[in-house]
Amino acid sequence: MSMDFTDQRLSYEKGELDQQSVPTSPFELLKAWMNEALVQKVQEPYAMSLATCGADNKPSVRIVLLREITETGIVFYTNYESAKGQDITENPNAEALFFWHELERQVRISGSIAKIDADKSAAYFQKRPHDSQVGAWVSQPQSGEVANREIMEQTFEQLQAAHPDNTTVPTPEFWGGYEITVESIEFWQGRANRMHDRIVYTQSSGDDSKVNEGNTSWTTKRLLP
Ligand SMILES: Cc1cc2nc3c(=O)[nH]c(=O)nc-3n(C[C@H](O)[C@H](O)[C@H](O)COP(=O)(O)O)c2cc1C
Repeated sequence: MSMDFTDQRLSYEKGELDQQSVPTSPFELLKAWMNEALVQKVQEPYAMSLATCGADNKPSVRIVLLREITETGIVFYTNYESAKGQDITENPNAEALFFWHELERQVRISGSIAKIDADKSAAYFQKRPHDSQVGAWVSQPQSGEVANREIMEQTFEQLQAAHPDNTTVPTPEFWGGYEITVESIEFWQGRANRMHDRIVYTQSSGDDSKVNEGNTSWTTKRLLP
């Protein structure tokens, strides 16, 4: 039996986005939208879908948590030997997507991914709750097959015993942050009648650059919905 959703629809009417009044830097708008999502109590607005594609040309998507918006991109943490880590080794191009239903907004970020500094990864790892640190060691290699849950739990208990609560859990070499250096960001605001607002920022060079923010110039375009 198939399941039919063709009668389900919402009208999006909570906001609008005007090309003339958006900030010159997409990072400013991203941070403003993220702040609004936090104020509006969107649950985990920093959770994003991350799409990667390895040498097999088959895209994969999964949720990861955004941990920092830098001056050049966005940072998340993961296991470097996971399936996504393998994809990124083979092809550094990626997209990240946020959807905040409560605000009727979507943000789509494209760029290339690279590992961040090992020291910065270690600093964040050491800030995480002790049991999450232990969990990172259990999940190695992340995305590898495990025969059953008991094996995971036994390993967790062994590692907890080896590293009691007040002791340091070493930062795994196979774990750390990636930064997606932003090449373009599209901001989508739902509107009535499917007449949504879409403003995309792309890095520009030369005369078509409308704005200069630090060393980066950004051009905006409105896209058909
Ligand atoms: C809300 C949520 C947050 C998550 N955050 C992360 C994260 O920050 N890093 C991570 O490696 N996996 C995170 N995961 C798990 C991933 O979605 C995924 O299962 C895992 O990273 C393995 O992906 P891969 O096999 O494509 O490498 C999260 C999942 C959910 C649902």
